[in-house]
Amino acid sequence: MILEKKNGFNAERLHSEFSGLVERYGAGDGFQDLEKLSATLQIYAGAMREVSAKLENLDDAYIYRNLSNPIHHMVSRLKSLDSILGKLQRRGLPLTIASMQHNLRDIAGIRVICNYVDDVYTVSDLLSHQADVRVLRVKDYIKNPKPNGYRSLHLILTVPVYLLDGPHVTPVEVQLRTVAMDYWASLEHELRYKNSIPDSDAAQHAQTLLTVAQELQHVEETMQKLHHDIEENDKKILSQEKSLPKTIDVRV
Ligand code: GTP
Ligand code: MG
Repeated sequence: MILEKKNGFNAERLHSEFSGLVERYGAGDGFQDLEKLSATLQIYAGAMREVSAKLENLDDAYIYRNLSNPIHHMVSRLKSLDSILGKLQRRGLPLTIASMQHNLRDIAGIRVICNYVDDVYTVSDLLSHQADVRVLRVKDYIKNPKPNGYRSLHLILTVPVYLLDGPHVTPVEVQLRTVAMDYWASLEHELRYKNSIPDSDAAQHAQTLLTVAQELQHVEETMQKLHHDIEENDKKILSQEKSLPKTIDVRV
């Protein structure tokens, strides 16, 4: 199943966001050219569409071959102008469109939620090996979880986006994770931004989150094994059926 919640490019929203933000961040001339900014973000939205289409095609190919499809759902988002300016400023980088293009590789982002851990690696391999895809960076927080328990596979890829003047090779961040990893990450993210948590409880909460992450990993491994066993059994039945002689009842 692919049920994509899109958060793409919207020129009208950009326009209304623009003046207040540029003033707030003191973004000078570097971000004043709204037309150029708009055209640039449009390319990132195009790259996001290209990668989404690739992922949908892969998932469809599984359905077509009657195999269990690896993608549960996907969510894509274009980084807001507020987040773009905020990130550049936090890193002490120039607040210009060129600096945004040079330094930020997560302007276009796609989160791919898979059913099983094996599916995460299958999808990642099938996507990464496509001829027009180049992998710039891989961070495997599944093999090496973050100390807080966060798990996901992060890829930074580039894809060409063909416009009137030819291809624009554009980066896209793809985060692949299982349903269980997504459940944990979404709630952890939400809890992190709760101001009501007293500092004295923070260490205890961090430990609880880590324990839950480990428990979820255990549940997930059990489900993966169950899935594997059932698939193996199905294959066995299928091959036994294949080896039975097929007789056609011919009327004589
Ligand atoms: P940033 O994009 O600035 O964070 O730097 P980076 O690209 O080096 O970071 P990384 O690839 O480690 O993580 C990028 C994204 O992964 C974040 O923006 C989050 O969406 C997600 N992420 C990373 N760590 C955590 C975490 O501990 N908890 C949750 N909920 N999400 C995380
Ligand atoms: Mg990021």
